[in-house]
Amino acid sequence: MPPTQPPRTALITGASRGIGAEIARAVAATGAHTILAARSQSGCDEVAARIHGSGGHARTYALDVTDRASVAALAGELESGIDWLINNAGIAESGPLLARPGCEEEHEELFRRHHEVNFHGSRALTEAFVFGMRTRRYGRVVNVASSAALYGQAYIAAYGSSKFALLGYTLCAADELDGSGVTFNAVCPHYVDSPMLEAAVTRLVEKTGRTEEQARAFFRSQNPGGRIVTQEEVAASVVELLLGGENGMVVELDGSPMPRPRHPNENRTES
Ligand SMILES: NC(=O)c1ccc[n+]([C@@H]2O[C@H](COP(=O)([O-])OP(=O)(O)OC[C@H]3O[C@@H](n4cnc5c(N)ncnc54)[C@H](OP(=O)(O)O)[C@@H]3O)[C@@H](O)[C@H]2O)c1
Repeated sequence: MPPTQPPRTALITGASRGIGAEIARAVAATGAHTILAARSQSGCDEVAARIHGSGGHARTYALDVTDRASVAALAGELESGIDWLINNAGIAESGPLLARPGCEEEHEELFRRHHEVNFHGSRALTEAFVFGMRTRRYGRVVNVASSAALYGQAYIAAYGSSKFALLGYTLCAADELDGSGVTFNAVCPHYVDSPMLEAAVTRLVEKTGRTEEQARAFFRSQNPGGRIVTQEEVAASVVELLLGGENGMVVELDGSPMPRPRHPNENRTES
């Protein structure tokens, strides 16, 4: 008989809706005890109720990843630590590279907000929980980055630069903690069917006068595989990384039939 693994405890941020909710469901289906966190605890409660309905384990917490006190309070509540951390909470808005005259403050705020949530938020959670993982010599961190962490794209410099930062941090952490029992990996989906994409569709309709269907067709056409990635595909890749032993893996999901994994740290030449 294969050796049985103890049930893992998994923290999923941004689990109140969208991709995070699906990741929580898929992680709970492995038998793990899931902890669902987002600013909207009621949203997390609804997701947790569905997990309970399928016989899974879920608890919820109100968490703002940009609020250090909120992160510290959660770390205090989860005193015995966690085994798996999935940094999924994120925001995405578009904007021009250069501030429009008179909109300088708004422009600064757009960049600041994206970096606070998408990069520093994930870093804060990592710093709160990875020390314990390292001490126990076991842990899995999966960061939900984006195709915007792999390629440059017009009008999303705030979002793209925050996701590049997150991916860079993931790869540095993977190298620094290599061999410690704690692994760091990332998934990089292109456009995924979620409330975030629906908001982008609405914004495109408002800005360009396209119909909703035309806007959706636009986003589909941007994915190399010619279709929108599903939340289930993202969740399946996350679970694979949680259950495996890979470290420093970056999995691109672009709507093609198969995910595209790569291992950037392995391509580095030592001086
Ligand atoms: N949808 C896509 O096309 C796509 C593509 C590539 C990557 N991604 C990434 O996938 C992740 C999930 O995206 P999604 O499409 O599921 O977006 P979504 O539907 O807008 O969900 C975002 C989640 O993040 C949470 N969140 C936002 N700000 C937070 C904060 N300050 N503290 C705690 N939680 C916060 C939200 O919950 P509350 O509002 O309740 O806090 C929500 O649960 C994001 O990191 C996103 O960048 C999405």
